[in-house]
Amino acid sequence: MLTTSRGISLVLAIAISALTVAFLLLMENATPTLLLVAGGISFSVSYILMQVTLEFLIFKEISNIYGVLEKIQKKDYPSIPNKSDRLSISPLRKINNTINTYAQAKNREIETLQKNAEFRREFIADISHELKTPIFAAQGYIHTLLDGAVEDKSVRLKFLKRAAKSLNALDKLVQDLLTLNQMESGVIKFNFEAFDLKELIHEVIEELEQKAAKRDVLIRFFYDKGKSYKTIADKDKIFRVCQNLISNAIKYNHDGGEVEVHLKTHKNYILVEVKDNGKGIPPEDLKRIFERFYRVEKSRSREGGGTGLGLAIVKHILEGHKSKISVSSTLGKGSIFSFELPCEKPAKEASLKI
Ligand SMILES: Nc1ncnc2c1ncn2[C@@H]1O[C@H](COP(=O)(O)OP(=O)(O)OP(=O)(O)O)[C@@H](O)[C@H]1O
Ligand SMILES: [Mg+2]
Repeated sequence: MLTTSRGISLVLAIAISALTVAFLLLMENATPTLLLVAGGISFSVSYILMQVTLEFLIFKEISNIYGVLEKIQKKDYPSIPNKSDRLSISPLRKINNTINTYAQAKNREIETLQKNAEFRREFIADISHELKTPIFAAQGYIHTLLDGAVEDKSVRLKFLKRAAKSLNALDKLVQDLLTLNQMESGVIKFNFEAFDLKELIHEVIEELEQKAAKRDVLIRFFYDKGKSYKTIADKDKIFRVCQNLISNAIKYNHDGGEVEVHLKTHKNYILVEVKDNGKGIPPEDLKRIFERFYRVEKSRSREGGGTGLGLAIVKHILEGHKSKISVSSTLGKGSIFSFELPCEKPAKEASLKI
């Protein structure tokens, strides 16, 4: 009874009215009626005041604090206090708000940690899976050779070549992972220089021509001969961007398909477009192809299939140039990947005529 607001108010109101009556008893002309009325009024007024104060300012806030704590225990985090609540002068409400805000901050921290842990788990699973494939293949060929196939001249060279191919794929995977990791942690520095984008694309096409010819894919390069395509960027990294985009356009095309590379100049920038008339990318995969290890066709064993790191690297390189990669694709018809780089500005007049 004494722990409820009513109990406390009753005891305090009785004490106050008793004090009032005792004080009035000291007066000579105090009649019993006056004492009764004064006692009654002081009891009722102090009871009501105490009750209101305790109930609304203290007990309600304490029960709110309990409510918040219970919600935190159940991981049902309370909502952020509104502005009027935050400006309240009641110290208990302030405590309540502080607990509330603290719980929200901790909740966000926990969510980030959980996401990071999930990401790490997925990443380790992906890496292990990707490493396993070339290691198993190389292991298989070498063990077959050791088990006697080495004596057979016809298979010896073939198996050694296959084992070497698997180890090359493993090397590429590790190199790509290192590059991606260094880019994400900002270790890799960009070396900006002026170069001709048209010449760089010619070099990439030359390098990939053999690969395209094997699949009877025709690469066509379109640009305006009278225009300059000089840009300022990291040449090696832009080479890598074009190499992956054109290589993808060949790899994910059908035999006898076509790849078109377009260079277009706009006011201050050059637009590079890589078009193919291959199988295209389903809309639900389009957003995810820039994630590491994401492949539309999940099987890695497919001839020519890569590790799924190329576009993640492309995205990072272009972000380092304050540019971005865009893609549009129609299933069964083909895809267009594009990005922009700044035009190299002609040097300004060295002197001013006055
Ligand atoms: N031009 C394209 N047409 C159809 N699908 C594409 C095209 N380019 C990319 N993709 C899809 O996006 C996925 C990711 O491409 P990405 O270049 O990142 O990896 P990859 O080519 O598989 O491997 P890597 O480039 O590391 O050798 C590919 O596996 C493929 O499924
Ligand atoms: Mg690729």
